[in-house]
Amino acid sequence: MIKVLFVCLGNICRSPMAEGIFQHLLVENELEDRISCDSAGMISFHQGELPDKRMRATASKNEISLTHRSRPFSGKDFHEFDYILAMDKNNLKDIQVLEHKGKGEKYNLLMMRDFDRNKSGSDVEDPYYQSDVGFDNCYQVLMESNQNFLNYLVLEHGLTQKN
Ligand code: 4NP
Repeated sequence: MIKVLFVCLGNICRSPMAEGIFQHLLVENELEDRISCDSAGMISFHQGELPDKRMRATASKNEISLTHRSRPFSGKDFHEFDYILAMDKNNLKDIQVLEHKGKGEKYNLLMMRDFDRNKSGSDVEDPYYQSDVGFDNCYQVLMESNQNFLNYLVLEHGLTQKN
């Protein structure tokens, strides 16, 4: 099983949306038995909470249901996951500070927008302090990046994709 972890700051907006979209794509492509995903945050402030209700509203408009409960990133995640995708440069830096905890493991630490053809390497902006438009934009950015990320995994691991 290829295991993917999406990481943001609070684990109530961007990373659970990334997880929800990616899971939706896995089901659509009949790849759930080959790839699994989860999400985590760099702070524990929202631990146990469902995603922000504005993010859930955006998700359900796009027929995606978000049921993840916020949990903090842990050093154990380096051992558990094959791909760790940070939503922004600060998340990436915070993960790198903990990297000694994953010493010897062969995980790949990447930025979510490494897979965005238009804005490779840039941040998935945090919509938390934005209007509803910010949440819709966040969804679009995550959908584009996740489709490309899944195509990359299919090629890299020689998987068969349905669509
Ligand atoms: P996220 O957004 O990192 O996309 O989940 C945030 C949610 C909450 C906070 C910051 C970012 N917060 O500081 O409470």
